[in-house]
Amino acid sequence: MDRVEAQIERLIQEIDYDEVSRLFAMLSGGKRLRAKLILKIAKEHEDAPLLAAIVELIHAASLLHDDVIDEAMTRRGKASVNATDGSKTAVMLGDILYSKAFTELVHFDKLVAQTISASVTDLSKGEMMDVKMAESFNSDEKKYLDMLYLKTATLIEAAAKASAILAGKNAAAYALYGKNLGLSFQIIDDILDITSDEATLGKPAMNDFVEGKCTLPYIYLYHALDEQDKHRLQSLHAKELSNEDTLWLKEQMKHYQTIEKSFTLAQKLSNEAQAAMHEDPELVAILETMIKRNY
Ligand code: FPP
Ligand code: MG
Repeated sequence: MDRVEAQIERLIQEIDYDEVSRLFAMLSGGKRLRAKLILKIAKEHEDAPLLAAIVELIHAASLLHDDVIDEAMTRRGKASVNATDGSKTAVMLGDILYSKAFTELVHFDKLVAQTISASVTDLSKGEMMDVKMAESFNSDEKKYLDMLYLKTATLIEAAAKASAILAGKNAAAYALYGKNLGLSFQIIDDILDITSDEATLGKPAMNDFVEGKCTLPYIYLYHALDEQDKHRLQSLHAKELSNEDTLWLKEQMKHYQTIEKSFTLAQKLSNEAQAAMHEDPELVAILETMIKRNY
């Protein structure tokens, strides 16, 4: 990972603008899940750290834009760039980071470059769907999972596939692993929004539904409730929740076991990913720590 951090540092230096260096230094690096994945899959390849740095810059850019779109004031426990320096700065910093990342893709084989760049179109489509879907209450599980796949899983899928191509490994198996890792990662994220607290998450808890996002535990709850309670659930959509509403939601979710049901799907996807990776215990370990995480 030191080599990835050194590559990221080099790319930021090459942008050659002290304002960008200052702002970038303020960002928290996060879990670097995508970079770790690339290094594990293509560890012998000398260009793996550069590919990992590229993907981390794209991810950082997408989060900068996402925080503007979501009007989020915190990111990874710190004030977001849009909160400290304004939305215009956050958008421009995102533009610089992802265009720099794209420029660096020319060092790679066409298929690797195409895999990564196409995933960014999907990621952007997924973000747009997420925003559109948050405008009204959504109870369609498939529609939700399709959006989730585009928004969160495609970049992880592309990272796994591109590094497998680089390493001459089975690209389809690694792509499936990345896709399911990404999907189960996001489902766990959705669960933690409900079961965890602000101090642990580094962002406000129970915030998805307030932002209009009907995540799986809410979708499953909708289908379990009777007509009257369905209306109550829908009436709470995209509004600040009172303590009483929060309590009601949590009680209903407990009663109908919608968190457990969501977790079961995350586990099923994770098991499929594990089956595709039976020969690679390190990648299986990533799945396990991700499913067990509490932040
Ligand atoms: C977080 O979702 C957002 C994403 C994973 C993707 C955002 C993608 C874009 C803004 C497209 C633009 C892409 C580039 C490269 C500029 P979330 O809001 O559900 O999660 P959060 O709680 O971490 O904010
Ligand atoms: Mg967001």
